[in-house]
Amino acid sequence: MLSRRAAWQRIWDNRSSTIETQMAYPAEITLRPGAPDFLDLPWDLPLSEWVGRCSRLVELPRGLSRHIVQFVNYSDELYALKEMRPGVAEQEFDLLLMAIEAHLPVVLPIGHAITNTRNDQHSVLITHYLENSLPYRLLFMSQGFARHRMHLLDAIAGLLVQLHLSGFFWGDCSLSNTLFRRDAGMLQAYLVDAETSEFHEGYFSPTLRFHDLQIMAENLDVELKDLQNSGLLTDMSVPAAEAGEYIQQRYQQLWEEITREDIIGANEHYRIQERIRILNDMGFSVGNVELAALENGSRLRLRVFVTDRSFHRDQLYNLSGLDAEEMQARKMMNEIQELRATLSQNSPSSTPLSVAAYHWLENYFNPVIERLRSLIQNDMTPAELYCEVLEHKWFLSERAQRDVGHQFAVEDYLMRFGDFQAFRSDN
Ligand SMILES: Nc1ncnc2c1ncn2[C@@H]1O[C@H](COP(=O)(O)OP(=O)(O)O)[C@@H](O)[C@H]1O
Ligand SMILES: [Mg+2]
Repeated sequence: MLSRRAAWQRIWDNRSSTIETQMAYPAEITLRPGAPDFLDLPWDLPLSEWVGRCSRLVELPRGLSRHIVQFVNYSDELYALKEMRPGVAEQEFDLLLMAIEAHLPVVLPIGHAITNTRNDQHSVLITHYLENSLPYRLLFMSQGFARHRMHLLDAIAGLLVQLHLSGFFWGDCSLSNTLFRRDAGMLQAYLVDAETSEFHEGYFSPTLRFHDLQIMAENLDVELKDLQNSGLLTDMSVPAAEAGEYIQQRYQQLWEEITREDIIGANEHYRIQERIRILNDMGFSVGNVELAALENGSRLRLRVFVTDRSFHRDQLYNLSGLDAEEMQARKMMNEIQELRATLSQNSPSSTPLSVAAYHWLENYFNPVIERLRSLIQNDMTPAELYCEVLEHKWFLSERAQRDVGHQFAVEDYLMRFGDFQAFRSDN
């Protein structure tokens, strides 16, 4: 499978190509390099008529949508195709590309096409199917996901903050327009629908941010009422009617934490590192630090600008080649740091982080994943599974009042949850 990061790389390393085609093919198709040409699809028919006429079509869970969306399979890579009014797919494609460039969690744009079906012209957006993702309805329909429902609202608040920090106005934040990936027992939200979005370079006004939050609250109200009417809305930490407000509050807290200005004493430079560390702990990478002298330089105004929310993710990827979500990566990086400290104790000089990371990969991560390979399915990625084992090890160690070790934790995990996981992924 092409990892998200590798896919980005492919995109930026190459330029796109446009093919002008003839009948039965789309009138025009623009694709990023490395993608299939999609020319064997029944382009002379509207997407609504592809069922039964296209062997590449696959049925997958999806959110509610206004447009027709079909999923196709090319050599086990899945793509989503969305049929829209002429001209619209191109715009959404461009916006998604800009969002990817800003390291925002959005679906990966692959291409767009113009089609002539009978008397109609359409544009079609092609995106890479977001692997291991859960549409929100699935989170409510399956008993196995009960504990994740609690994190759904936090994930949306986090996503909105990330978008706004980059000057990205969503314009249609809703549960249906968001996909969720498991992230170390929490959820990471991804934007899937950017049809109404705008990029604002430079100044992004609080009014626009407020407007985006209002749209979110209205959309969620409708979606949660719909779930309630279908009898699906159970076990959510916040009453449905207050969900929008809850997200707004979480958003506000997070926004203030990230963008606030601190006034520090001229000799309190350690507070700069402290602030950076707090932001890094929250997953944000720090770009610039701005210091302005106040009161003849006796005090300083400190502002810290974050770039993206993939601090640990980038660190883990650079050290081990593993592509994980941010919270997963944070857990694994903590373990690597701990291991580094232990290795350094037994050696005359301090152990480089890269050496500790290699040791960790060979002696911890890989053996655990090898033992649990049969449980890696659907939304349960190796990284998530590893984090579950770490959690389980912590629980067992606390009960035993000593470190029980990875091997013991893995065997115990298999015994207790192996059947449940297999059952869950079958259902
Ligand atoms: N790249 C993708 N990966 C996974 N699911 C997708 C992808 N693109 C679309 N979907 C699914 O299709 C649904 C509808 O897509 P969306 O872009 O929101 O269409 P619309 O503009 O009609 O609302 C989404 O809720 C999501 O479940
Ligand atoms: Mg949508």
